[in-house]
Amino acid sequence: MINGNGWAKYCIWEHSSRVKELYARRCRLEVQEMTCAAQCAEMLTPHVTPGDSLLDAGCGSGYFFHSLRKRGIPVEYFGIDAAPSLVEIGRQILPQYGLAAERLQVMRIEDLDGDVDHVVCMNVLSNLDNYHRPLERLLRCARKTVIVRESAREQAEYAYVPDKYLDGGVDLKVYVNAYPIRELTGFMESYGFTVTRILDRHSAGKPQDVIGYPHYWVFFLAVRT
Ligand SMILES: C[S@@+](CC[C@H](N)C(=O)[O-])C[C@H]1O[C@@H](n2cnc3c(N)ncnc32)[C@H](O)[C@@H]1O
Repeated sequence: MINGNGWAKYCIWEHSSRVKELYARRCRLEVQEMTCAAQCAEMLTPHVTPGDSLLDAGCGSGYFFHSLRKRGIPVEYFGIDAAPSLVEIGRQILPQYGLAAERLQVMRIEDLDGDVDHVVCMNVLSNLDNYHRPLERLLRCARKTVIVRESAREQAEYAYVPDKYLDGGVDLKVYVNAYPIRELTGFMESYGFTVTRILDRHSAGKPQDVIGYPHYWVFFLAVRT
């Protein structure tokens, strides 16, 4: 017999109680704001006109909403994520802070269509098999800016590695890719954006260990030309 449950079965994000707990605590403001979220909000601010829409792609449970809200950045927040359990956490908690539950949707970036003013995508594409298709969807959706924070280096590195931080008995692999900076920049430019590479404040340009593997975080600010 066959079935179509492979996404949920192989999705690491659906198999970590630790991540679910952390993402719930971020929604409840029980942990410090991520440095990258603060940096992203600051990068976004000069490009926002009141009433603009913003899509947080691969939003987890949607806690980036807090980074916008507490700075008074006047955007309408929408979040999508492929992991239903993480989206559900945000839908349960964030309405208490003013975000309607419907603003968070279960959706894969690859399936996205629509128009928004701004797109933010942090710490997502490096864990996918490659960046072209999802990043194309994001670039095509964005009227004004796309801000991406991913692992990127001079030379590409593709690795499909075990995630040893999952729930007991779960044996799954995840991509930990670093994408080539010039190629990634050229790709974004080819969709009509001017792209600036920005030092990641949290890692300060040094490799950061995440689930036992080095990540080379870089911010890219793409502004529609
Ligand atoms: C490392 S978490 C990052 C969450 C959040 N952006 C942050 O920076 O804290 C990666 C997120 O990407 C989501 N994700 C993975 N593949 C995805 C896809 N194809 N489409 C949408 N979301 C995806 C996961 O479910 C997970 O919530």
